[in-house]
Amino acid sequence: IQTELTAVKDTVPFRMGAAIQRQQILGLEGQLLTKHFDSVTTGNQLKWDFTEPREGEFTFAAADELVDFGIANGMHVRGHTLAWHSQTPAWVFENATKEVLLARLERHIRAVMGRYVGKIDTWDVVNEVIDENQPDGLRRSPWFEITGLDYIRTAFRVAHEVDPTAKLVFNDYNTEYPNKREAMYKVVKQLLDEGVPITTVGHQLHVNIEAQPASAIEDTIERFAGLPVDQQVTELDVSVYTDSTSSWESIPEEIIIEQGHRYKDIFDVLRRHAGKLSSVTVWGLADNDTWLSTFPITRLNAPLLFDDQLQAKPAYWGVVDPS
Ligand code: XIL
Repeated sequence: IQTELTAVKDTVPFRMGAAIQRQQILGLEGQLLTKHFDSVTTGNQLKWDFTEPREGEFTFAAADELVDFGIANGMHVRGHTLAWHSQTPAWVFENATKEVLLARLERHIRAVMGRYVGKIDTWDVVNEVIDENQPDGLRRSPWFEITGLDYIRTAFRVAHEVDPTAKLVFNDYNTEYPNKREAMYKVVKQLLDEGVPITTVGHQLHVNIEAQPASAIEDTIERFAGLPVDQQVTELDVSVYTDSTSSWESIPEEIIIEQGHRYKDIFDVLRRHAGKLSSVTVWGLADNDTWLSTFPITRLNAPLLFDDQLQAKPAYWGVVDPS
């Protein structure tokens, strides 16, 4: 890795994180992580299908390694995620009355979160529960179909009981789009009014080189600043594609440069609102390992700060050099 570079974490007024996979803590990627970041999110290893593949059988080996690596290197650790419609084993919803499902959720949260009290200080408690195309703004997942809003209430209540000091995040994507933003705002506000212990609104911020403009991101941060929560950017990356079908065999240099400007524009906004943001996390370390190379289709993508040789890209300079 380029040891002479300024550490990204030293250039921003909030915690700076990256999501990683367990195998990446070994070798150069582990070095890149600890040089530039002071927060780490478990990319997959704390999702339900990893931690409780069969009811009551918990597997923590991979998550333990990641969490211990973060703690050993003085980092904040973010746990991802406790209740989500994806990467959740089928058994969770099988033969589930509302009572049964909420009991499974409670037991899961007590086991998973409880193991890391004192180590993981922030949890994405619920993930992607908003659907702005529903009249009530709520995604029709099995969670919702079986329990209504109660799975969200239960998840936060139990999480708060397990660790009253942890930041508890209500996390979603596309919050920079006005309709999604407003749908999420309404639900979060209602739950806060009821006393549900949400501490933090998480904006995934999976964006691309064009959409949404930085001004829309700013509007979103300002909107949620009216609620008694702090905010985090939880999964930032900047796709080089503006649609879901095109693909390049090799990515034009001018796109990589444009992406650098885009990162700068986004970080200008984030720095300006640092008082409202407790952390900013990118969803991956380097372009050699990004979920966007398989989603929504398999194609070459390069959405992160470092290239597939772990070298700093214009995106890195856009973040660290705000002049
Ligand atoms: C992605 C992981 O990065 C992939 O490795 C996995 O195959 C699918 O999930 N929003 C989220 C994350 O909240 O959990 C997703 O992570 C990316 C989109």
